Amino acid sequence: MSDMVDIVRNVADLRTRIRYWRDQGLSVALIPTMGALHDGHLRLVATGLELADRVVVSVFVNPTQFGPHEDFSRYPRQEAEDADKLAGAGCHLLYAPTVEEMYPLGFATTIHVVGVSEGLCGDVRPGHFDGVATVVTKLLLQCQPHMALFGEKDWQQLTVIRRMVIDLDIAVDVIGVPTVREADGLAKSSRNAYLSEAERAIAPILYKVLNTIAEGLRQGGDVADLCQEGTETLLGSGFKSVDYLEVRAANSLHKLGQLDQPARILVAARLDGARLIDNLGVEPIRA
Ligand code: PAF
Repeated sequence: MSDMVDIVRNVADLRTRIRYWRDQGLSVALIPTMGALHDGHLRLVATGLELADRVVVSVFVNPTQFGPHEDFSRYPRQEAEDADKLAGAGCHLLYAPTVEEMYPLGFATTIHVVGVSEGLCGDVRPGHFDGVATVVTKLLLQCQPHMALFGEKDWQQLTVIRRMVIDLDIAVDVIGVPTVREADGLAKSSRNAYLSEAERAIAPILYKVLNTIAEGLRQGGDVADLCQEGTETLLGSGFKSVDYLEVRAANSLHKLGQLDQPARILVAARLDGARLIDNLGVEPIRA
């Protein structure tokens, strides 16, 4: 049996704990999450423990990053289970604020990152990245960690956060951690829990399509043709719709016509039960 993880629920208690560690010269890593923790999150904790002396995980289902017709109310909330997993993983502190703590009466500020927030999920989920940028800024200012870790599965989110941290001079190292996958390639995600058995069998095709496009690009294939074929494969395999399937510059997220710099293939596609996203890096071929 592992010990229990300590839980704090307000900014004042969080700051007391962080100050105590900092006064001892200990480094602190923050891992922002929305809970329903899976192996991908636990990989973030393990990486945090390698890089820092103390690891804080925040669990907060952030209402401002969900659109009016999205899954905010049914998003899984399982704090006791999450706390057990975090204790087992060696996390030092769970920060689980209430909505009132994060957004007190009269809250009126939004962080909006232009450019990298546009297109891809930014187009399909209007306002989503404003919600993410605002809550992550708050979490970083509340905790003031030395570093913050995020999963690469949400590549556009990671890119938005990197931009925002540079632009706002927030003194934190942003660390991206590779996606953890099921044995059949499906990226671990809290939303996989929404899939029926039949949908779960279709879902790994997303990653197969990304790999096919990566291979095609390495062989000099045309970006538009490969994405078109990939979309057809997804629709032909049972996906209901494809929000996007694009090749972008890995860091700037500019659209790419050819593989002349490090690139990221990004996809979002829908099954009845869930909207799934994934992405894969591909390096330019050196002559
Ligand atoms: O990736 C997530 O779980 C969320 O978008 C984050 C970064 C915790 C902000 O609410």
